[in-house]
Amino acid sequence: AILARAVLAQTPTGDKVATRGGACWTGTGSSSEAMGMFSKTKEGEEAPPKPKTVAYHKLFKYASCQDITFFLLGLFGAVVQGISQVYMIVVFGDIMDEIFLSNDDETLEMVRMFMYIGIVAFFSGWMQFTFTNLSMEAQKQKLRLAYLTAVVHQDVAWFDTHQAGSLPESISANIEKIALGLGDKVGNLVMDVSMLVTGLTLGLCYWWKMTLLVIAIVPLMAVGAGVMAQAMTDIQNENQTWYGKAGACCEEVMRALRTVVAFRGEQLECDRYDALLAEAKKGGVRAQLKVGIGMGYTMAIMFGAYGLAFWFGAYLMKNGETKADGDMFMAGDVMKTFFCVLFGGFALGMMGEPLQAVDSARAAGAALYEVLESKPLIEALAGQEYGEKISDVKTIEFKDVMFTYPARPEVQVLNGTTLRIDAGQKVALVGESGSGKSTIISLIERFYDPAAGMVLINGIDIKTLSTTGLRAAIGYVGQEPVLFATSIKTNIMYGNPKATEQDLLEVKQRAQLDFIDAMETGMETFVGAGGNQFSGGQKQRIALARALIKKPSLLLLDEATSALDNKSEKMVQETLDKLGQDSHTSLTTIEIAHRLSTVRNRDVIFVMQKGVVVESGPHKELMEKKGTYYALVASQGAAENEETGSAAVDNTGV
Ligand SMILES: Nc1ncnc2c1ncn2[C@@H]1O[C@H](COP(=O)(O)OP(=O)(O)O)[C@@H](O)[C@H]1O
Ligand SMILES: [Mg+2]
Repeated sequence: AILARAVLAQTPTGDKVATRGGACWTGTGSSSEAMGMFSKTKEGEEAPPKPKTVAYHKLFKYASCQDITFFLLGLFGAVVQGISQVYMIVVFGDIMDEIFLSNDDETLEMVRMFMYIGIVAFFSGWMQFTFTNLSMEAQKQKLRLAYLTAVVHQDVAWFDTHQAGSLPESISANIEKIALGLGDKVGNLVMDVSMLVTGLTLGLCYWWKMTLLVIAIVPLMAVGAGVMAQAMTDIQNENQTWYGKAGACCEEVMRALRTVVAFRGEQLECDRYDALLAEAKKGGVRAQLKVGIGMGYTMAIMFGAYGLAFWFGAYLMKNGETKADGDMFMAGDVMKTFFCVLFGGFALGMMGEPLQAVDSARAAGAALYEVLESKPLIEALAGQEYGEKISDVKTIEFKDVMFTYPARPEVQVLNGTTLRIDAGQKVALVGESGSGKSTIISLIERFYDPAAGMVLINGIDIKTLSTTGLRAAIGYVGQEPVLFATSIKTNIMYGNPKATEQDLLEVKQRAQLDFIDAMETGMETFVGAGGNQFSGGQKQRIALARALIKKPSLLLLDEATSALDNKSEKMVQETLDKLGQDSHTSLTTIEIAHRLSTVRNRDVIFVMQKGVVVESGPHKELMEKKGTYYALVASQGAAENEETGSAAVDNTGV
């Protein structure tokens, strides 16, 4: 009996309370914590509804043979770990009997056994954690890369309908969740299962009657755990509502302090606050009462179970109950059977957390798979290129192109656009903002496909062309120069990593990057984050150089100067004009002009209105027509007049 109490003292009442779903009950203590099993606390979190999950094995999509091997080794470690945890109790029971019988040799044998179990536990524990985590870390890296690869290869349209800004965060969060489900949580789960199975099996083998008795008591304990879990949730809710109300009251007073003071309402407000706090306290006390009752009840059941088990054991022993081999049952047998089953029960309770981790890994996997499995229609992963390759863009034709953005299908952006641009032409697109100019450029880059009509490049339907070939032939400069935080040279070479020094010098001259010469480090100068070490005009010319070094046959300029101040705009415009006059090259340029005066001498000006080309021709012709273009020029001229006070209308050269 003394020995039995010694054992009981080693599993004292714990103070960690399960708060989720009643899946777990109290029963943590020094000895169990030392064994590292029951020390997992659970936060009182509500599992949000998870609509989509993937099959667990799908999470291993990127696992190599080594990862799988490591994972299995880890699980093997977990199984052995679970068995050794339970088996320790068995040896404990045996050793008690041997001490009782004062059989020194046998006792020593048992002590040695403890040591062996310790060694096994050491290695299996090491295996469990090391291998599952090694496997998990390796897969995590591959998953991250796969995730990002899948994201950057999505169609441009995909980014219109997904929150690209929150992607880095959600990638991280999802990968972490998946990793948890691939790593040591699974190890814990397997260990718990192993403990449960070992505990029950051993219990049934040793003394099935005793085992059944303990199994019958376990649900009673679960009830207590359930009461406590509910009470914990109640406390949280009560706190949230009443303290929330009190907080709101406090905030209101602070905001309306002058009014409160002016009406001498200070005491009134304090009383109101006090009343709310009192309510919060009442609620808190009620819930704590429930926790206390639940806790007491569980402990009572636990100790009751101890008592009942030992009474039952003693009763059976007295009635001459013998083991299968005819030996007498002893105190140690009661003990080991009782604790085998109890450990199994604990293990069952512990499964909630890892199961939840696996669940949330599967849900995160669903988010990952949504990206991995959404096959882009336009973009093809590198190496899976299909379609006809072209090296030069010569003619561009739009035939009754209809287009709506996938993110806003109700707005008809292009409404039967028809236009033709020949090789080497320098053309401009003008029109009110929102008339669809940038959309035309997006369609030429094939960021999107038209809903109806056709875009033809060199007379070939753009849908049958390889996007890589097409985009290699196009240089693009947008409104805001986008530079990467590296050297000028690297930024320019981004356009064509294979460019030679000679090419670099040439584009430097064409894009008028003379300002670089004045810098100490020249081309190697760091541009700063987002290129912020340069003026807008300088950045834009670097961006232009990047587009030119591709040796494109088509240059797209989308309001390339609109974000610049007057002086920078002039400089960049000069550069563009020069390019436009480079008649010895066959470079075709399409320029969206935000200031009409800058594109007067283009070969053709297309005037867009509400998604259709309403007029086209050279400046002079359009002015004589006195149509939409004329009206645009006049209104812009008037606006510029007001702005600058100069006679801008005259400048348009009517
Ligand atoms: N990515 C997008 N998603 C949804 N609507 C868009 C998108 N881009 C542009 N639009 C809409 O399409 C219309 C035409 O835009 P755009 O071609 O950029 O006009 P412009 O360049 O002539 O000012 C506008 O009404 C704009 O709001
Ligand atoms: Mg635009």
